[in-house]
Amino acid sequence: MDFAAFLQPQIKTYIDQLSAHDDPVLAEMEAVAAERNFPIIGPVVGRFLYQTTLIRKATRVFELGSGYGYSTLWFAKAVQRLGGGEVFHTDGDRKNSEQARNYLSRAGVVDLVRFRVGEAIEALHQTPGLFDLIYMDIDKHQYPDAFPVIREKLPAGGVLIVDNMLWFGRVVDKNDTSASTEGIRRFTRALWADPEFFTTLVPLRDGFIISVRM
Ligand SMILES: C[S@@+](CC[C@H](N)C(=O)[O-])C[C@H]1O[C@@H](n2cnc3c(N)ncnc32)[C@H](O)[C@@H]1O
Repeated sequence: MDFAAFLQPQIKTYIDQLSAHDDPVLAEMEAVAAERNFPIIGPVVGRFLYQTTLIRKATRVFELGSGYGYSTLWFAKAVQRLGGGEVFHTDGDRKNSEQARNYLSRAGVVDLVRFRVGEAIEALHQTPGLFDLIYMDIDKHQYPDAFPVIREKLPAGGVLIVDNMLWFGRVVDKNDTSASTEGIRRFTRALWADPEFFTTLVPLRDGFIISVRM
């Protein structure tokens, strides 16, 4: 099962066309992702990150798992439009962090971005203060371990967005008991069981959740 099963091809094309943009840095990053087969969220979900940041008026954003900064750029563009703030970029790979700094600098938003190289959950734990919005896209087996730290750092009214919640259909494949699939399942159960979080799963791309802390 893969994500082609979530949307009919014509519907996917229709949504893709509606998500077109004219940002040259985003376009370059999309081309690099296609060339290297690097799993960025893409423009459909990118728009959602941008829009949610504006709706929430989120000026303090923390990303767990930022890669070379594509999702970071969508957040940073929104924070810039809100008049300024901070977006935390985290990645375990220093090369990704350096590439992100270059792209974000060329896009004119690097002053808003704080870079942390290392383990993202630990970086969230170590960073002082609370966040308006937390976004998670790290290795999937780590999702359950991240949840208690996210709870520490997200106040009432805070928004949580998490990518890959359908895991290309694997979450409903009973034969798949891999650590990554089980990680997503355990995290999903914990989130839905938590009375302080109200969550919706959106089946775009690979499925993501948006949750609000009550
Ligand atoms: C799916 S990619 C992120 C893509 C990015 N969110 C985007 O859409 O542009 C996941 C990234 O998280 C990093 N990563 C995975 N687990 C991590 C962890 N526990 N701590 C820090 N970085 C992690 C990987 O190095 C990889 O670059």
